[in-house]
Amino acid sequence: MLEQLQISLKDALEKLQLPSDNIKIIKSNRPDLCDYQYDGAFKLAKLMHKNPLEIGESITEELKQGPYKEYYQNISCIAPGFVNLTLSNKFIIDQIKLMITKPKYNITMPKKETIVIDYGGANVAKPLHVGHLRPAIVGESIKRILKYMNQSVISDVHLGDYGLQMGQVIKGLLEQNIAISNIDIKLLDNLYPLMSSRCKIDEELKKECSMITKELQDGNELYQKYFQKILEVSKKDIKRIYDYLNVSFDLWNGESDSYKYIPSLTNELLANNLLKESNHAMVIDVSKDDDKLQIPPLIYQASNKAYLYGTTDLATIFARQQNYHPNKILYVVDMRQNLHFTQVFRASQKLPSTKNIELEFLGFGTINGEDKKPFKTRSGNTPKLDALFKEAKEIFIKQKEENKNLSDQDLDKIVNAIIKFADLINQKEKDYIFDLLKFSLVNGKTGPYILYTYLRVKKIIPNITQTVDNLKENIYNEQDRDIYIKLLDLDNIMQNAFLGRSPSSIANYLYELCVLLNAFYEKNHMNNLEDKEKKVNWSHLLNLATNIIETLLDLLDIQIPSKM
Ligand code: ARG
Repeated sequence: MLEQLQISLKDALEKLQLPSDNIKIIKSNRPDLCDYQYDGAFKLAKLMHKNPLEIGESITEELKQGPYKEYYQNISCIAPGFVNLTLSNKFIIDQIKLMITKPKYNITMPKKETIVIDYGGANVAKPLHVGHLRPAIVGESIKRILKYMNQSVISDVHLGDYGLQMGQVIKGLLEQNIAISNIDIKLLDNLYPLMSSRCKIDEELKKECSMITKELQDGNELYQKYFQKILEVSKKDIKRIYDYLNVSFDLWNGESDSYKYIPSLTNELLANNLLKESNHAMVIDVSKDDDKLQIPPLIYQASNKAYLYGTTDLATIFARQQNYHPNKILYVVDMRQNLHFTQVFRASQKLPSTKNIELEFLGFGTINGEDKKPFKTRSGNTPKLDALFKEAKEIFIKQKEENKNLSDQDLDKIVNAIIKFADLINQKEKDYIFDLLKFSLVNGKTGPYILYTYLRVKKIIPNITQTVDNLKENIYNEQDRDIYIKLLDLDNIMQNAFLGRSPSSIANYLYELCVLLNAFYEKNHMNNLEDKEKKVNWSHLLNLATNIIETLLDLLDIQIPSKM
């Protein structure tokens, strides 16, 4: 739709013999005055040494007479040079008809590319906690947005399965003489925190655990047996949590899966003179002359010959290139790993076989408590996800007597909505404060508000058979008009969500749309509507709006309960 408006402006500018490339029409800052605005008169005025008001007025006059005049109900120029555009009913309804009849609401699709998306990233043998919410929730939503926008997407959980925690847990199991067949999730959940805190105060123990990790990586048979079992048990539990969150992956690979690629990666690095020795370690220099902050080299192989986090990430890029030839790889990872990914990306760009892959670091912020520090329970622990889901459910049930009668299935969907919407309404880059009480209210920028609005509006849509030809160029009042205008903005929102890898654009749009739907609901009554044309139009309007809500909720991975 924006493109149509741009065409109309281009025509006017050409007729006025003004430069007409890069025309930008934006949503109005003053929705009370107009729907869209064109602010280009200022730049043109500078260019032509004229007064912006004069330019704006001549554009306005030209548009009013031009071949596209019927797009607009009103065109005006406001000092000092803004061109304000109000859409005509005909234009609005024509566009709405396209949204109803064309696939995917007539949203413009980008070029198709193969994209690997790396998110989730849980660490094996450590219990999942609140810190694992964002990589799962934000990553899943970005994946869904990419797929909706026609991209060929491969998702990979990239488990952290070959780090120090493995050596620590294996050491603990050996110490306690636990047979491999007796390893279960409860045991692991207790063992990891124990070993980790012991290593913090016992340097000898820590060294030993590092050695075990190193020998495991080198293929030590006994350790490998333990590792396989730990992986199996832990993966099952990680899957259970991701299932609850309806988060899924095409690939369940981990750091350990990249090891078999290391020999050929090393060969390519050597052949291109990219490895050098530094303090008995092998490193890749990734600094650039114009760096303001010095970027340290990526440590490829430590002095004890162990491979590190950077090595597995580089080897994973190498593996993805061989297996999938992606155009892009996206990483949904904690912002605090920015430097690590700068090193890895630069190393990859030096390597002939991977240098053409575009790598994007999509860092997310932290979930904080009221004290603005990473969220903890009252006892000072990092809350486990199971407990958190349970708490959200209890809080929601307590809100209203009837909530007790909801089915477990519906409650689980609501819990998901509470947690996911609260996360996705925030720009992913920003930190936010975790407050289940606020997140679960039915009023405000919350998941329950969106679901409640949807279910409420769904109930009032007249049940009449209709074709889009019956949709008339009638707009009845401010409330239905506001919704039409909002719906026309969908394409723009989807482009922002796609290009910005930004689920928050969608979450905010959903909220704004729901506010308008509630205003419509309050002021207009659908029961016993006498006017047949009105009934048809509004049923089209509400059908389209609720279909769009369904689609967008699906992109946020929020499922709709049967009732609320
Ligand atoms: N396991 C890592 C962590 O817990 C996150 C993995 C992110 N993905 C990656 N390719 N490094 O910090």
